[in-house]
Formats: sequence, structure tokens, C-alpha cells
Amino acid sequence: MPEAFEQAINLQDLELLAQHNLDQNAWEYYSSGADDQITLSENRLAFARLKLRPRFLVDVSRVDTRVSLLGLNLSSPICAAPTAFHGLAHGEAELASARAFQKFGSIFTLSTLSNTPLEGVGQAAGHHFWFQLYVYKDRELTKALVQRAEQSGAKALALTVDAPYFGHRELNERHHFQLPSHLSVSNSGAANDMGSQDANQGSQLAAYARRLLNSRLTWADLEWLRSITHLPILVKGILTAEDAVLALEHGASGIWVSNHGGRQLDSAVSTLEALPEIVQAVGDQLEVVLDGGVRRGTDILKALALGARAVFLGRPVLWGLAAGGEAGVTKMLNVLQTELELAMALSGKVTLADLKPDLIFRSIF
Ligand SMILES: Cc1cc2nc3c(=O)[nH]c(=O)nc-3n(C[C@H](O)[C@H](O)[C@H](O)COP(=O)(O)O)c2cc1C
Repeated sequence: MPEAFEQAINLQDLELLAQHNLDQNAWEYYSSGADDQITLSENRLAFARLKLRPRFLVDVSRVDTRVSLLGLNLSSPICAAPTAFHGLAHGEAELASARAFQKFGSIFTLSTLSNTPLEGVGQAAGHHFWFQLYVYKDRELTKALVQRAEQSGAKALALTVDAPYFGHRELNERHHFQLPSHLSVSNSGAANDMGSQDANQGSQLAAYARRLLNSRLTWADLEWLRSITHLPILVKGILTAEDAVLALEHGASGIWVSNHGGRQLDSAVSTLEALPEIVQAVGDQLEVVLDGGVRRGTDILKALALGARAVFLGRPVLWGLAAGGEAGVTKMLNVLQTELELAMALSGKVTLADLKPDLIFRSIF
């Protein structure tokens, strides 16, 4: 491994290495947000704004980060959000990422839009992974995806609801993002081909989504999905108490608070700010998880103190993968896990159950 990789001590170091290793097409696809990228930066700023109330003289010689999530026992609450196209980062693509999470002992969520067929990823993940579902206009194709995910050992489905169309990621539009010819959308049969790119087209992915994904999804479709699978379903992309209640009423097992990493509706609320109203509305009945801007151990502390059971990371997985393949993803996980354990110890918390709202400082100014 090159010296810079060995010397990386935080996620930002891995981000810089990834930027160095990736070509412009891949880097802009991974990093961009929608429009002015207000939500993208708000996801980070919301964490920075919250201050902690540490407690002392607690024996923190051992801290315990184990958690159960939808019936699975995890070693840590640090999990992988689904991101498309790991093949842009590394030759082993999703297989490397899935292996790293399997060894770490948490959850890898595979995107519908992966470059590696889900059967192989299921195996690499030790048949212990979640599958993220985009609903295609073609119902049979969608149903087949769900069945293949079940057969490959998926333990839950995350139904993404915040993307009836893909957001306007301007760098991708301006520079005509496209998947290199050696990669495909490997899970989707006839829809594997991303389609041709003419010089005047914007993002090839946005065009793919317009052509093939279902922009007519409603709450009734959640019930349809429940009728074709025995897997628990999380609704991914929820930002309000109202929608969390509807998800509960339509049979969801979990709420995944997300704004798609700031890539969909720009100016949508940051996930950390959205979390409390959702936990208040449904937290005693559904498990709530969060993604968006989680980059530090203290970020995890804040999200869990406000009621998330686990956090999911999008871009940092890709940074690790681009920086060093499976070893890079493992490094990213170990760095963050060490930060989490130190942050717990420095705030006087021994288990994740000790992380409660009283850890958060409420400003009177
Ligand atoms: C490059 C990239 C690709 C993504 N692809 C998907 C996807 O295929 N399906 C999905 O539900 N969300 C997708 N997302 C959103 C992530 O699941 C997650 O919500 C977001 O990345 C979390 O924010 P973070 O990157 O700040 O950690 C993607 C995000 C990125 C950055």
C-alpha cells in the first residue's frame, strides 16, 4: 500500500486519496449533490452545530458498540448505505465492499444499481446483507429482483422513496456522466444496458431513471411490496413525521431517515434535524436509522442520542474502496469505529443504550 494510504487517519484523508485515484467522471458522480448542494452541506453542518454534554467518573475501560437491528445482532452501528456503481472505484467493486462489512460484523446494503450481480454480493456478504430496491416500471422485473434478493440471503429490503426522478446533479449533467463500457447495471436483465449517450444528453443515469424507473409509486405500492416478500421493509428517504406515520400504517418495519446524501431535493432538511420529529412520531413502534454526512465518531454519538439505532454511510465506503479496495473499506470502518469508541469513553457512555437525548446540549441563546 502506498505511504499516503498507510498514513490516512480520518475519513477526510481517505476522501482526498479517492479523489486522487478516481477519474473526473467517477469523482463527480460520487461527490456531487443536487443544484446548489445546500442539503449536501447542511447534512454536515447539522452535526457540527450540535454540542455534547459529557459525563465523567464513569468506568469506561471497556465500551460496547453491539446493537440489534431488525433482529440482526451487529458488532457496531456503522453500516453501509446503498450506493450505485462501486465498479467506478475498484475492479472488485461491490464484492470488496461487501466482504469488508461482513468481516466487520455490521450491514452492507446493496444498491439495485450495482455493477456486480446480487447473488455474488450475497455470497461475499456471508448471506447477511440488505437489498435496496428501486421499483422499475416493469413490475415483473421488480418482483424478480426481490425474489433474487431473498434467495441470496438478504435480511431486509430498503425501498427508496425519495427518487421518483433523479435530482439535478449539475456536474453530472454538465459533463455527461456515463458508465464506462466495461460496466453495466448488472441486476436488471434487459435493463442492464445504460443506453447510448449522445453528446447533447446530460447524465446517462438520470436518463436511465426517467426511462425505466417508476415515478408513479404511492403508499399502495408499499403494500404491494409487502404482499410479494416476507422480508422486513424499511422505507428509505423519509424526512417528516407525517410520512413516517404513513409508513407505519402501510406495514413498514423500519424508517430510514435520508435525503439521499443531498442528491435529490436541494434545500431538503438535513437528516439530523429531521430525526427527532420522526423518532417522536414512530420511534416506539419502528426502528429508525439515519444516513447523510456521518463522518466522525461524534456524529454517530449525536444521531444515536437522538434516537437512531444505527447510522449508514454512503460516500465514505466509496472513498475507502477507491483508496485501497477491500482494505480501504476496512480501514474506513476501523478508523470510524475507533473514533466512536473514544467518543463514547470521553462522554462517559459504556453502551449504545446509554446514548440518550440528555447527551445533547440545548442552547438557551
Ligand atoms: C454515489 C452515490 C450513489 C448512490 N446510489 C444510491 C442508490 O443506488 N440507491 C439509494 O437508495 N441511494 C443511493 N445513494 C444515497 C445513499 O444511499 C445515502 O442516502 C447517502 O449517500 C448518504 O449520505 P453520505 O454519502 O453523506 O453518507 C447514493 C449516494 C451516492 C453518494
